[in-house]
Amino acid sequence: MTRHAIVTGASRGIGRAIALGLAQRGYDLALTDIAAQESVLRETVEEVKQLGRKCIPILADVSKIEDCQRSVTEAVAGLGHVDVLVNNAGILRLAMIDETTPEHWDQTFAVNVRGVFQMTQAVVVHMKERRYGRIVNIASLAARTGGPGQSHYAASKSAVVGFTRVSSMEFGGHGITVNAVCPGIIQTEMGRNNLRDPERVTYFEKITDLHRLGEPEDVVGPVAFFASDDSAFVTGQALNVDGGIFYS
Ligand SMILES: NC(=O)c1ccc[n+]([C@@H]2O[C@H](COP(=O)([O-])OP(=O)(O)OC[C@H]3O[C@@H](n4cnc5c(N)ncnc54)[C@H](O)[C@@H]3O)[C@@H](O)[C@H]2O)c1
Repeated sequence: MTRHAIVTGASRGIGRAIALGLAQRGYDLALTDIAAQESVLRETVEEVKQLGRKCIPILADVSKIEDCQRSVTEAVAGLGHVDVLVNNAGILRLAMIDETTPEHWDQTFAVNVRGVFQMTQAVVVHMKERRYGRIVNIASLAARTGGPGQSHYAASKSAVVGFTRVSSMEFGGHGITVNAVCPGIIQTEMGRNNLRDPERVTYFEKITDLHRLGEPEDVVGPVAFFASDDSAFVTGQALNVDGGIFYS
């Protein structure tokens, strides 16, 4: 049976790589992103279709609960059912604690944490009915060790790891696994904004066991593992995908 997945924030970066990687592994997809990314999202949808898979675009902001509910409704209507949710959408706008406003803090949490909660809440209604589901949350190395300017982001990604654990407890009895991946420094628009200083790039290459920064494709295999039945007895975990920076 063909597996179906929703990937949020899928127009570019890690989300796009996950979409293409799942398509190559035979998944049909519903890809979401914000309205400002519509043309890029449609390009990614076309790339997936060229791989021979069904793919539907959904314009939705994960920070809005009605958009999350509509995303699941449209994905189920368009694909028939949903097996996998990849909560990938996220934002990082660097600001030192002294400069961080309550609005900045709340926006980070609205997307990175409440978005994960709202998409999960919406999709598990459907997954519980089918007694099957795989939820993969994209957390971050920042949940283990953030950098200066990332207090709000590190706190939000730590929250995603905590949410992953409790989701696993609450949904395990319904045949649903919930796991997180914690990518290190990945060369996307977000990754490049985060690491503008060439000296910091050299520093991270040096402290990484593999002596390089990550590419979006480096995140795909671990996500595909958690999305698949190969991980049927693995839940509540947060896996570092950082080339060897942090051990836990
Ligand atoms: N790049 C890195 O170094 C890195 C490291 C660790 C974790 N991550 C995480 O990986 C995920 C993807 O990051 P990326 O590097 O590809 O970043 P990116 O900025 O290139 O892509 C993020 C995508 O999410 C979308 N998005 C933003 N706000 C949204 C919202 N409210 N609703 C729906 N979509 C929204 C964006 O439009 C964009 O398409 C994020 O959760 C990020 O925190 C990235």
